[in-house]
Amino acid sequence: MKIACLLLPMLAAMVLVGATADAACITDGCHQKLSQFAYPHAPVADDCLSCHVALTATHPQAGEKNFKLTADGAALCAQCHTAFPKKKTVHAPVGEGECLACHQVHGAAQPKLLDVGDNLAALCFNCHDEAPFRQDFRHGPVAAGVCTGCHDPHAADEDALLKNPLRTTCLECHADFAGKLQAAAVVHAPVKDESCTFCHDPHASAAKYILKKEMPALCFDCHEKVAENVAEFKVRHAPVDDAMSCSNCHSAHFANAAGLLAADEKTICLNCHGTDKLGNPPLKNIKKQLTAKPKKKEKKVAPTSQEPAEPTGQLTLHGPLQEDRCADCHNPHGSNYFRLLTGPYPEELYLPYQAGAYDFCLQCHEPLLLRYKETTIYTEFRNGNRNLHFVHVADNRKGRTCRTCHESHASTGKKLINEEGMPFGDWKVPIRFSQTETGGSCAPGCHRPLGYDREEPVNYRQSGL
Ligand code: HEC
Ligand code: HEC
Ligand code: HEC
Ligand code: HEC
Ligand code: HEC
Ligand code: HEC
Ligand code: HEC
Ligand code: HEC
Ligand code: HEC
Ligand code: HEC
Ligand code: HEC
Ligand code: HEC
Ligand code: HEC
Repeated sequence: MKIACLLLPMLAAMVLVGATADAACITDGCHQKLSQFAYPHAPVADDCLSCHVALTATHPQAGEKNFKLTADGAALCAQCHTAFPKKKTVHAPVGEGECLACHQVHGAAQPKLLDVGDNLAALCFNCHDEAPFRQDFRHGPVAAGVCTGCHDPHAADEDALLKNPLRTTCLECHADFAGKLQAAAVVHAPVKDESCTFCHDPHASAAKYILKKEMPALCFDCHEKVAENVAEFKVRHAPVDDAMSCSNCHSAHFANAAGLLAADEKTICLNCHGTDKLGNPPLKNIKKQLTAKPKKKEKKVAPTSQEPAEPTGQLTLHGPLQEDRCADCHNPHGSNYFRLLTGPYPEELYLPYQAGAYDFCLQCHEPLLLRYKETTIYTEFRNGNRNLHFVHVADNRKGRTCRTCHESHASTGKKLINEEGMPFGDWKVPIRFSQTETGGSCAPGCHRPLGYDREEPVNYRQSGL
């Protein structure tokens, strides 16, 4: 602030008392403590009468008030300090001229005539309720009491006495964040359109990350559809309910991957499902499945002697997994079906067949796969026209579920055939599948080796197998 040294009134004051008062006032052992501040106010050392006017000729006089101030409130300060320029918001005590609610007029223990140092909190809490600032999760500068990192203590052109527009306030300190925000491919709508304080409390909060509400409630305010679904699902995906909730998978601010995912879908899922330790009883390690090395083929039990041994298979990923997609089959938030699947799929190994029970698979595959005993088009798994999917699966007493033959995620066998075999208690029932141009054969643990041929159907009675 500029100092407007108002010489004339000062001189007038001196004439009244007849001497420069300061030296006399301080040294005669009366007002000695006024010379003992670490940070004295400049005019105090120069001239007491720049602020005080004598009312009587003699001083001191017991029980008498000998001085008054040269002006009241802010006007006193304005004698030397240019008044604060008019701004949109003025801090109430400043507007009221209560400069001394914060400043020590003669001198103080810290700079700026304040008795508090960098940590201003104690000063502010003289008037403001401390409780909201003392919640469990505190914003860095608030915990340090650097209120003036954001606020002007006197007046400002922004709401809430902010020195700068709100967004600038946040992004100037969080420069790293600002850089990434600028570079990101997708920015979450509210981060673009709303202020940061839509979700964060600038001071402190009972929720982590100084969020105004815990997740997922915070997110559900806008994402009602997800909220409804999650509430209604029979099975919720565990991470939705843990402390990080939605943030386990989504970035709240911006992302380079679709769906505001922090990375591509597969990577996100494998962050948790790429271990042997998940859940009780442990869920399978999906990463292992997707990177399995083909086993060396065990010696084939050849159903027909002329067939060459199957070459060592290559790992084939189930369609959507070839594009790193998991959510095509699993609803990441929750589901009414087994294993968070997007449609009905039986949990059991064997099941009396019911129409609709396999709709999960059939939403992507031939819907009539299991419909007809005889078919020439709906499946390749047939002997002549006899639909072998129908034979195996659509059995009203003991239908075999798809998993008895197919892997869900990846297989080193052809047609996603489950090479290791399906689990049957502790035993794995190997299938030993091999393919020909017009059919194939299996030598499973379930029945004797049998082949099938679409063009020249194997006559099971005559085949002698
Ligand atoms: C910049 C203006 C200013 C100057 C210079 C100043 N004072 Fe004060 N003084 C004040 C104000 C304002 C008050 C009233 C404080 C209050 O009400 O809390 C005050 C109060 C006082 C009081 C009574 C309350 C107290 O704090 O004990 C004394 C005594 C006093 N001043 C002495 C002096 C002396 C001696 C000097 C010079 C060495 C001096 N002042 C210089 C502004 C000033
Ligand atoms: C007689 C003139 C005069 C009056 C009246 C006056 N001041 Fe000052 N004030 C000064 C001078 C001179 C400085 C030193 C300026 C500098 O160092 O740049 C100063 C400095 C300050 C500082 C900064 C201290 C620091 O450590 O940087 C504050 C705060 C301040 N004054 C507040 C006030 C308040 C509040 C009032 C009214 C109660 C007031 N002043 C009245 C002359 C005055
Ligand atoms: C709510 C507390 C509060 C009130 C009331 C208040 N001030 Fe301040 N003032 C501060 C703080 C805190 C600082 C230090 C600001 C900083 O370091 O950024 C300050 C700094 C100053 C400075 C030094 C400015 C500088 O840039 O160095 C002056 C002069 C000043 N105040 C004058 C006044 C005057 C005059 C009034 C009354 C009209 C007043 N203040 C009322 C808290 C207050
Ligand atoms: C002498 C009492 C007093 C002190 C000390 C004080 N304030 Fe205030 N402050 C008030 C009052 C009174 C209001 C207006 C009432 C309200 O809005 O609650 C206010 C309002 C505010 C506002 C809201 C302004 C607006 O327009 O929305 C902010 C921000 C603020 N104070 C910050 C601070 C900070 C930071 C400090 C410490 C440097 C501080 N206050 C110290 C009394 C004080
Ligand atoms: C990181 C920036 C930042 C810091 C640091 C900060 N504030 Fe604030 N403060 C804000 C913002 C932003 C608002 C406006 C809140 C809103 O619009 O929701 C605000 C509002 C306020 C208000 C108005 C009432 C309210 O709570 O909305 C007060 C009082 C206040 N702050 C006091 C303080 C005090 C005291 C400190 C230091 C202990 C402090 N602030 C530190 C950013 C900050
Ligand atoms: C004066 C500098 C400053 C300003 C301004 C500022 N911040 Fe911060 N912020 C920090 C610091 C320092 C931390 C603590 C960093 C750390 O712990 O790694 C932090 C941490 C955070 C955190 C993480 C808190 C946690 O619990 O992990 C969030 C969220 C945050 N700030 C949001 C904001 C928002 C929103 C704004 C604007 C209202 C803002 N910040 C303005 C300095 C600032
Ligand atoms: C839609 C709500 C929402 C909005 C709006 C929002 N945030 Fe966040 N922010 C969160 C959530 C949730 C977290 C904690 C989990 C996470 O990092 O995803 C967080 C965490 C943070 C963190 C700490 C972790 C980190 O990423 O460094 C900072 C800093 C932060 N936010 C700053 C900001 C700033 C600055 C803005 C405004 C540009 C902002 N936030 C706007 C919801 C939001
Ligand atoms: C203020 C309202 C609001 C809040 C709060 C909010 N969002 Fe959003 N969110 C939106 C809007 C608007 C869109 C853009 C919608 C669209 O494009 O269909 C969006 C988009 C998204 C998307 C991308 C959807 C897609 O199809 O790509 C995800 C994921 C998302 N939000 C997650 C969250 C999470 C997690 C939270 C809590 C941390 C959250 N949102 C909080 C309003 C909000
Ligand atoms: C386990 C990871 C994970 C968690 C936890 C998670 N999401 Fe998602 N979310 C995803 C994936 C993956 C997609 C993309 C789905 C797709 O492409 O079909 C998605 C899509 C979305 C979408 C856009 C499509 C839609 O379904 O509307 C929104 C909005 C969304 N999530 C919000 C949330 C909210 C809110 C939470 C917290 C309750 C949350 N998500 C928790 C992984 C997750
Ligand atoms: C933050 C860790 C985490 C992430 C990320 C995650 N999951 Fe999970 N998932 C779990 C936990 C924990 C369980 C439950 C284990 C239990 O029930 O014991 C689970 C269970 C499952 C289940 C079995 C549900 C049941 O009830 O049988 C499936 C399927 C699943 N997750 C798929 C996914 C998919 C797909 C993704 C990516 C979109 C994904 N997960 C991302 C932690 C995670
Ligand atoms: C083409 C559909 C499909 C895709 C794509 C898919 N899954 Fe699955 N997933 C299934 C089916 C079907 C099951 C049930 C397997 C069973 O019980 O026979 C399953 C089961 C699971 C299980 C529970 C396994 C256990 O231990 O029993 C987890 C975890 C899982 N999937 C995670 C993932 C992850 C992670 C991805 C992406 C990397 C993914 N899935 C992609 C269809 C799929
Ligand atoms: C979200 C869609 C989707 C779902 C659901 C799905 N699949 Fe697939 N599946 C595909 C895609 C895409 C391919 C690759 C098709 C291709 O390469 O011709 C594929 C390939 C296959 C193959 C290999 C076909 C071949 O000709 O090589 C088998 C076997 C298979 N799926 C079985 C199943 C079973 C069993 C289920 C249910 C447990 C199922 N699928 C669920 C999309 C899906
Ligand atoms: C008894 C073992 C077995 C069962 C059970 C089984 N499949 Fe197959 N599936 C096969 C064989 C073998 C092939 C390869 C046919 C060929 O190409 O020669 C096949 C092929 C497929 C194909 C590729 C397209 C086609 O029809 O040729 C799909 C898709 C498929 N199965 C889905 C399913 C679904 C869905 C289920 C459960 C409803 C299921 N399978 C149950 C053995 C089985």
